[in-house]
Amino acid sequence: MESLAASKWTNSLLYLTLILSTVFLLHSQIATNLLVGHHPLRLKRSPDLPLRFRDDGTFKILQVADMHFGTGMVTRCRDVLPSEFDYCSDLNTTRFVRRMIELEKPDFIAFTGDNIFGSSTTDAAESLLRAFGPAMDSEIPWAAVLGNHDQESTMTREELMSFISLMDYSVSQVNPWADVPANYVELPKRRKIDGFGNYDLQVYGPPGSVLANDSVMHLYFLDSGDREVVQGRRTYGWIKESQLHWLRGVSKRNKVYNNMGLFFFCFYHCSSIPKVGCLDLDSINMLQVIT
Ligand SMILES: *[C@@H]1O[C@H](CO)[C@@H](O)[C@H](O)[C@H]1NC(C)=O
Ligand SMILES: *[C@@H]1O[C@H](CO)[C@@H](O)[C@H](O)[C@H]1NC(C)=O
Repeated sequence: MESLAASKWTNSLLYLTLILSTVFLLHSQIATNLLVGHHPLRLKRSPDLPLRFRDDGTFKILQVADMHFGTGMVTRCRDVLPSEFDYCSDLNTTRFVRRMIELEKPDFIAFTGDNIFGSSTTDAAESLLRAFGPAMDSEIPWAAVLGNHDQESTMTREELMSFISLMDYSVSQVNPWADVPANYVELPKRRKIDGFGNYDLQVYGPPGSVLANDSVMHLYFLDSGDREVVQGRRTYGWIKESQLHWLRGVSKRNKVYNNMGLFFFCFYHCSSIPKVGCLDLDSINMLQVIT
């Protein structure tokens, strides 16, 4: 009796070992071959942060707007001579951005909307990866806001901004983070801000300088929205009061935190006055909004 029980016990143990090794084998095989799309799973690559001025006191920003990227070679250029039409596609845009990055060697790249052209693409993620490819390959920190054409294919504005914030070397954010230092004046709640892609990036002083631990410049990004219908007329979106309220809040907070003179730049696609169309906000107006 005893030996029968013992052999049953040994059998069970053997079965258990077999099951465990099978599970382990399957798990390790699956884990090492886990695919997302066609690429092995990996984390986002992040740039060296914080953003900072160079030793010589400069900080070079390359601004790229309206790439209107579609699907690559098959998306033809617009506004070129008829003789150029057959030889001009999205690939020319990519080459141009690459050359600008190589020539200018910027510290930061700001993409200000209509990065992709919804009506020319059937896969927004693919277009984004290709449109921002030169920035990701350069390993230079970059950020983007949306225009009024980005969302016209397979992703909403929120999905686009989330995706962009997760791309390599991107420092874009969907809307402000809540985890600010305790001595900061409280930020307005995230959900109360209109749009997706309203955020504040800080640029610190040169390494080793007296300003090495201070943010001396702020880059404010604002979502100027999609198209809207106002009193029955189709027009462009605009920067809403909730966003300006947020902007005033962070700008005040930044001044409380750092009472030196601060530099700032605002980046947004366009700002329209209902019924008038897409206009650039006068920088004086923007200054009044912030001070
Ligand atoms: C686009 O690139 C092709 C290939 O280099 C070139 O032949 C063509 O001239 C470019 N088109 C424009 C409008 O720059
Ligand atoms: C900045 O912070 C570092 C690390 O805490 C410190 O060693 C350095 O002295 C600080 N520099 C200035 C100018 O305050």
